[in-house]
Amino acid sequence: MSGRFFPGLRCMAAALLALWLPLQAATLQLEGASGHTQLDGAALAAHPQARDIDIPADVAYGRAMRYRAVPLAVVLAGLGLAPGDTLEVVASDGFTAQLPGALVLRAAHGGAGEPWLAIEPEQAPWPLLPGKQHTAGPFYLVWPQAQGVASEQWPYAIGRLAVREAPERRWPQITVAPSLPANHPARRGQAVFVTQCLVCHAMNGGGGATMGPDLNRPLNPVEYFQPDALRRLIRDPRSVRAWPGQAMPGFGAQQISEAQLDDLLAYLAHMARRR
Ligand code: HEC
Repeated sequence: MSGRFFPGLRCMAAALLALWLPLQAATLQLEGASGHTQLDGAALAAHPQARDIDIPADVAYGRAMRYRAVPLAVVLAGLGLAPGDTLEVVASDGFTAQLPGALVLRAAHGGAGEPWLAIEPEQAPWPLLPGKQHTAGPFYLVWPQAQGVASEQWPYAIGRLAVREAPERRWPQITVAPSLPANHPARRGQAVFVTQCLVCHAMNGGGGATMGPDLNRPLNPVEYFQPDALRRLIRDPRSVRAWPGQAMPGFGAQQISEAQLDDLLAYLAHMARRR
């Protein structure tokens, strides 16, 4: 009896261990044209192209940082990302960045510095993020040369990278009316929205993020905020209302210029008539 019983138990223990082990090691999920795969953080940190790199102006930590990291190109090899595609970066808190393929691949196409994927060492975790109860790990996308990169294009707590269609094609309901002139401010505002707001907010149900509310359904903020209060809220949410669990960051003139803010508000006002 026991001879038949114990091997079964061992089998079950092995199966449980196999389920438990991957949960312990940080893994990065990858989705490309040819299907799904995953990479292990420890293996990435030991990759021949991994380095200790310095980030002079780290966006998430707000100071200079040093990380163990690999060029993002190493991680993307085989995923088939093209400049016209979008790299969707999904974080564990619902933050979801849509990074233009051309930006991610800019170094390969003669532009300024490429992005790197920083890997948090399991034995030596990074510091807690300012005002948060967690670190930027297990994976954090950093830009040693940050020119031309927006503040919301530094996703942290990354769990998945996926090659997708550009957000405007994937979710036509986030786009302005096709009849708007090419130089209409709402068109420029749409670009600001996609880069800086769609990472947390949906628009007409479009977008991959789940961190903040939809900004057009049921109502658009232009319909219940005084224009000055809405500008203030975007610049510094805590100057309008504040509570401990508040999650929206403020956007200073460094992140969104006055002209871009005008465009963004024109986009929101336009979308209020386009539900
Ligand atoms: C990192 C995530 C994040 C980003 C980026 C972000 N928001 Fe938010 N936003 C939130 C969350 C979460 C809330 C809900 C309140 C809170 O927790 O701060 C919110 C609330 C708001 C509200 C108030 C809605 C209401 O009815 O109370 C407005 C308006 C808003 N965001 C607009 C924007 C705009 C415009 C942008 C882009 C410039 C933006 N947000 C970028 C996360 C974000």
